[in-house]
Amino acid sequence: MPRYRYPVIPESEVTPKAVFDNRRHFLRQGFAVGAAVMLAPSMFLTKNAHAWADVLKPALESDLPSQELAGGEALTDFRDATTYNNFYEFGTGKRDPEVFAHNLPVDPWSITLEGELDKTGAIPLEDILKRHSLEERIYRLRCVEAWSMVIPWIGIPLADLLNHHGLTSRSKYVEFESLYDPDNLRGQRRSIIDWPYREALRIDEAMHPLTLLAVGMYGEKMPNQNGAPIRLVVPWKYGFKSIKSIAKIRILEEPPTTSWQARNPEEYGFYANVNPDVNHPRWSQARERRIGESGRRETLMFNGYGDEVAHLYKGMDLQKHY
Ligand code: MTE
Repeated sequence: MPRYRYPVIPESEVTPKAVFDNRRHFLRQGFAVGAAVMLAPSMFLTKNAHAWADVLKPALESDLPSQELAGGEALTDFRDATTYNNFYEFGTGKRDPEVFAHNLPVDPWSITLEGELDKTGAIPLEDILKRHSLEERIYRLRCVEAWSMVIPWIGIPLADLLNHHGLTSRSKYVEFESLYDPDNLRGQRRSIIDWPYREALRIDEAMHPLTLLAVGMYGEKMPNQNGAPIRLVVPWKYGFKSIKSIAKIRILEEPPTTSWQARNPEEYGFYANVNPDVNHPRWSQARERRIGESGRRETLMFNGYGDEVAHLYKGMDLQKHY
């Protein structure tokens, strides 16, 4: 399927890229020192700055395999997908992430792998990107708040990363943690949830081929407001499971408590599978508002991915294990 380039690039993204390209040009021309000071002195203070971005850029420009897994539905407009967000680290308003996420310190980035794995430790993102191939997946995204989108993600199957690090017989659950950095992430200075944002999957959910570690969307690197530089995407579960800006992955034998369960276990279960028959205590989950459309549409069981994932929950009472 053809890939696309979205013409509408927010102003906030254009400027840093232009500065970056300019800088490379000047470096080639031999004006390195003077130009560097004029353009952005702080760029040169960080060791390994741009290491992962330099690996990601050519990969995004190559012809990636792409799978359309949203029933041919129209893509959500890039602007909507990047201006209507949930990222409580930057506030609870839908526009807060777009306004404040430039403060997310994404470079350099590493993920610390801990727990029941053969190989643990802090892995620089560039090493992950060099080791695993990227692919594009077009998925529906259904938020627990009853809105939805269709997004072309680019990423690595989570199973590829976990297999590389060697699961053991005690690897039963995968816990994820977002970056904790209240100096830069203003929302973390308020007790909105128990920070850092923590989510988890059962190991068979984590190893399912639909479960993606996304580093881009719409053919571009992940915008900060969408969870740069690397986030989870689990398309058959409510969006809150798809944790952003992952700093730590811990493999456990026992089920961990997620941030949303800790905050309100009656409203947010561990599984959080999209299910039109199990209402949120404060609203119905039978229908949803597709961002960019008027009216409401029916919510699909497992967000339409039942053929692929229903077997994971065979014999479970989904009214109880919500
Ligand atoms: N991850 C972190 N770290 N913080 C958050 O507030 N919000 C979740 C999820 N991941 C959230 C998060 C929720 S509720 C949803 S619906 C999706 O991110 C939204 O992803 P999007 O903004 O890219 O559409």
